[in-house]
Amino acid sequence: MHPLLLVPLLFLPRALSQLTPALNEPPDNTLYLGAWLDTSTDTPTSFNARLGQSAPWFQFAQNIPLDPLDPDTGEGGIVNASQVWETGTDAGVYVTVYPAQGFGAITDQDVRAPNYVLAGRGVFLRFAPEMNGNWDVWGIQPTAFKAAWTQMHSIVKLSCPSCALVWSPNASPGYPYSITPDMVSNATDRAALDTDGDGAYTSADDAYAPYYPGDALVDWTGVSYYYKGVYPNSYNVAPGQGTVEAALTGYAQPGLEQEEAVQYTPFYQTYCLTKPCMFSESGAAWHWNSTSPPATYVPPTHTEVEQAWWRDGLTNTSLLTAYPRLKLLMIFEWQKVETDGGISTLRDFRITNDSQVLEAFKQDLQGVQGRYVWATEGLTQQVPAQVPMPMPVPARATPYRMPVGTSASLFWN
Ligand SMILES: *[C@@H]1O[C@H](CO)[C@@H](O)[C@H](O)[C@H]1NC(C)=O
Ligand SMILES: *[C@@H]1O[C@H](CO)[C@@H](O)[C@H](O)[C@H]1NC(C)=O
Ligand SMILES: *[C@@H]1O[C@H](CO)[C@@H](O)[C@H](O)[C@H]1NC(C)=O
Ligand SMILES: *[C@@H]1O[C@H](CO)[C@@H](O)[C@H](O)[C@H]1NC(C)=O
Ligand SMILES: *[C@@H]1O[C@H](CO)[C@@H](O)[C@H](O)[C@H]1NC(C)=O
Repeated sequence: MHPLLLVPLLFLPRALSQLTPALNEPPDNTLYLGAWLDTSTDTPTSFNARLGQSAPWFQFAQNIPLDPLDPDTGEGGIVNASQVWETGTDAGVYVTVYPAQGFGAITDQDVRAPNYVLAGRGVFLRFAPEMNGNWDVWGIQPTAFKAAWTQMHSIVKLSCPSCALVWSPNASPGYPYSITPDMVSNATDRAALDTDGDGAYTSADDAYAPYYPGDALVDWTGVSYYYKGVYPNSYNVAPGQGTVEAALTGYAQPGLEQEEAVQYTPFYQTYCLTKPCMFSESGAAWHWNSTSPPATYVPPTHTEVEQAWWRDGLTNTSLLTAYPRLKLLMIFEWQKVETDGGISTLRDFRITNDSQVLEAFKQDLQGVQGRYVWATEGLTQQVPAQVPMPMPVPARATPYRMPVGTSASLFWN
């Protein structure tokens, strides 16, 4: 982390303001790796020890209005950032905020309530993510989303000017997931989502634009992007080359994941040039249990699935060079049961839990060492007394969304 980089900008003439790095932006030709951990079994300190590197960002989630803190279970309340302090590094805190009771339930006080000012640390604040999907109560309401974003921006920028606001839809491949106009209750919104005006929602509609609040109200952009196999995602398949790039270009090639090439809404060229961008959460699923694959199929190993994923993204030198505005890759270090097409499997997205997978990752990471900026170590900063203590909200179950207008063998999330 190089927080001092921000200081000289105060003295730059106004004409250079276009060149001003965004809040929390790492230097050119470098990027960050961050992690979202299941803190019921893991901590940032153990993550760093496993990886042999100090991650510069750790993600946590909380709801607003805040769920009351249950003193017995530790659930509810605001993000417990003290675990980041305990790493002895200057790692920043990435807070994802879910308006879990809908936009209508949020008051100004709710927006102020989380203590985002975390003792001089870098902060990312990702509000109402994946708002272009219909799997959360705040989804597919572009008018209300933009109004809530504007309210949130005006409040947070006063109380925490250094908090970097992350606008983060779900990646376009697979859009419109299975959303149809009759699912959108508000007539204004229903029309807004039909961006090509043909009366239907298809892959030709813009997956992002109806939700973008404008450059003036956004610090970073990002997408959620997961790979889970072949629909209904019930056995192991290694991701094909170009899977990760598709999240940026919207161009999904024919191959394992789908039968025909489909051009979905591009992300990078529209949202990553004026703003730095990120994968806000990402990973590839290893299915611990599975249904029977086709008879002649030889399934990949756990390491093969995960390695194909990071070699396509995290450690893919040509991708990192071709998309230099991709500045943070946030990995989803969780396993959870998910259900698609009526079949549930236990899916493990972690790359630092299984020792073989981890060793393979560490080896491949060496090939891109100079690219990643790690946290500064050796800090002995005390955990500030005012840092709130509650547990994070568990990661949500994100159901599979069957893309409309494309093959039934698709898998995208
Ligand atoms: C917050 O995390 C710290 C460890 O960093 C732990 O001691 C504390 O119990 C946690 N608070 C809650 C409410 O879980
Ligand atoms: C649609 O939602 C917006 C924002 O919530 C609201 O201003 C508008 O009145 C709604 N329109 C309809 C037809 O319900
Ligand atoms: C790496 O990134 C490039 C894009 O620059 C892409 O063409 C390629 O398929 C990616 N994956 C691998 C494994 O090289
Ligand atoms: C896999 O295990 C989970 C519980 O961990 C269970 O819910 C699911 O039904 C199992 N799936 C299969 C295909 O056995
Ligand atoms: C792997 O994850 C399990 C929980 O799913 C945990 O009990 C175990 O300690 C983890 N192992 C390592 C090396 O992180």
